[in-house]
Amino acid sequence: MTEDRTNTEDAVRAQKRRAAESAVEAVSDGMVVGLGSGSTAAHAIRELGQRVDSGLDIEGIPTSYQARELAAEHSIPLTTLDEATPDIAIDGADQVSGAALVKGGGAAHAREKLVDGAADRLLVVVDQRKESAELDHPVPVEVLPDARRPVTRSLRELGGDPVLRDAERKSGPVVTDNGNLVVDCDFGVVETPADLGATIDALPGVLAHGLFVEMADEIHVGAADGVRVREC
Ligand code: 5RP
Repeated sequence: MTEDRTNTEDAVRAQKRRAAESAVEAVSDGMVVGLGSGSTAAHAIRELGQRVDSGLDIEGIPTSYQARELAAEHSIPLTTLDEATPDIAIDGADQVSGAALVKGGGAAHAREKLVDGAADRLLVVVDQRKESAELDHPVPVEVLPDARRPVTRSLRELGGDPVLRDAERKSGPVVTDNGNLVVDCDFGVVETPADLGATIDALPGVLAHGLFVEMADEIHVGAADGVRVREC
């Protein structure tokens, strides 16, 4: 690895950590916290773990296998949506444009939508590369395995370019925490994410897509010189 690349990776990691730490400031005693997935949300879980260690009294609701394992490793008490409603959720995103997000880079967007959507407030944590003037990141769509071909056909008819997500270090496709497949669909620039999201939601066999529209309350953007917090 070249020194430049190491420097860049270190810089991005620091931006993610800053954004996560900024969002964690909003967590206080007695709160139920939705624990997001991905490398930026992981910084928030680790920070919450340290605060729990120092006496912070919270319960977490994980959005994925990864989040649950990390929370357990850091002795964060866990609960479920059956027992509690999250006061706040802290989660990452693959792209942020205004109040719209694309999520699902970790294939956890179905449970993320469930937990983030149930929370009174959703705080999104990203490094500055994730902010974009236009929403044009491919949209992850989780589908029942039997629905893969019909949904792929429908996504193409909607003007998208759907690609089944392949696993890394495993032959074949990614299988989600829910036992389903993920199709990443490039639509170019998405002008009306709420409309596109509603259309994808209506396709039989779709569990969830990665368009999160009007769900975020605050975006915490980690930059080289600090954190910008934007209210949505
Ligand atoms: C997982 C997600 C993640 O929050 C998103 O992919 C961002 O991940 P990272 O913080 O590692 O860039 O939606 O499904």
